[in-house]
Amino acid sequence: MITTVTFNPAIDKRYHIEDIKIGEVQRVVDVENTAGGKGINVSRVASILGEKVTGTGFLGGTNGQFIEEEISRMGIENRFLKINGVTRCCLAIIDGAGKQTEFLEPGPEIRQEDFESWLKIYNDLLSNTEIVTASGSLPRGLNANSYARIIQIAKERGIKVFLDTSGSALLEGVNAKPYFVKPNTDEISLITGKVINTEKDILKGIKYLNEKGVDFVTVSMGKAGSISGYKGIYYKAISPYINAVNSVGSGDSFTAGMAVAHYRRLDIIDSIRFAAACGAANAMENRTGYVRIENVERIFNDVKVVEFRES
Ligand SMILES: Nc1ncnc2c1ncn2[C@@H]1O[C@H](COP(=O)(O)OP(=O)(O)OP(=O)(O)O)[C@@H](O)[C@H]1O
Ligand SMILES: [Mg+2]
Repeated sequence: MITTVTFNPAIDKRYHIEDIKIGEVQRVVDVENTAGGKGINVSRVASILGEKVTGTGFLGGTNGQFIEEEISRMGIENRFLKINGVTRCCLAIIDGAGKQTEFLEPGPEIRQEDFESWLKIYNDLLSNTEIVTASGSLPRGLNANSYARIIQIAKERGIKVFLDTSGSALLEGVNAKPYFVKPNTDEISLITGKVINTEKDILKGIKYLNEKGVDFVTVSMGKAGSISGYKGIYYKAISPYINAVNSVGSGDSFTAGMAVAHYRRLDIIDSIRFAAACGAANAMENRTGYVRIENVERIFNDVKVVEFRES
C-alpha cells in the first residue's frame, strides 16, 4: 500500500469570472470544488494509476467532511484524524482570458496533542505500507521538524519516504534523509541559497542533497523536463511536446508516478519516464492532480532519458 500524508488539505475552489473588477460586486459564472492539497493530489493520481492508496493527515469541519466523501468516492482509504478546527479552502479565480489569481488560506492550527494522536494512526498504517509520500506546507502549530519525525519513524521500519515540500519544512525535512525529494527550481534555489541559472547550478543542488543522504533527487523544471541524481549518476528527462492547459499539480503527479513506479519496482530510467509522463499528462487537464491513463501510457513511450556522469 502507498500511504499519502497531507497535513494541510484544502477544498480547491475554482471561480470562473469574465473580468475581475476590484471593489465591485462580482457574479461568478461557474464554480468547481475539489478535494485538494498536494498530498491529496498525489493520492488521486496514484489511485487513478491503479494502486491501493491510504490518505492520512488532519481534517475538520464540513470542509473536512467534503474531502472525506470525495476521496472515498475515488476509492482512497480514509485514515485522517478529525480535528476541532476547520479544513481550509483555497480559491483560484480564472478570468475570461484564462488568467489565474490564487488565494491560499493558512488552514487550521494543529495542536501538539493532535500531532501525537495522529502519530498513533501513522504508526498503525506503517504495518501495511511500502511507500510513504508526504507533501505540501506544514499547518500552523506543527513543529518545522514534523516531516523529519515521520521520515525517521518510517525509515526505522525500512519504509521509503517521498517528500515534496518547500521552505523550512523542506530544509528541516531533508535532515532526516528521505529516500526521494522533488524540488522545483525555486525550491532547490532555497536549498543551495543561490539563484538557479544553469544546469550546472541544478547539478550542484542535486549533489548537495545526495551527499546529505537523500538517495534520489529530482529537480523538476516544468515543460523543460527534469534532472535526477541517484548513486552518483545523473539523468536528464525530456518530455515530448504536449498540449498543456494547466500545469498546476504536475509536480504532485510526478511524485505520484515516482511512488507508483517504485512500488512496481521499475528500473531507474523507467521510473523517471513514468513520473515525467504523469507530470505531463496532468498538464493536459484542466483539473489539478488528475491524469488519464491512456495519456500516461502514450507519453511514457516518448519521454527520453539521457544518463550522464559529472564532467
Ligand atoms: N507543459 C509541460 N509539458 C510536459 N511536461 C510537463 C509540463 N509541465 C510539467 N511537466 C512535467 O511534470 C514535471 C513536474 O512539473 P513542475 O516542474 O511544473 O512541478 P512543480 O513546480 O512542482 O508543480 P506543482 O507544485 O504545481 O505540482 C516536470 O518535470 C515535467 O516532467
Ligand atoms: Mg511542486
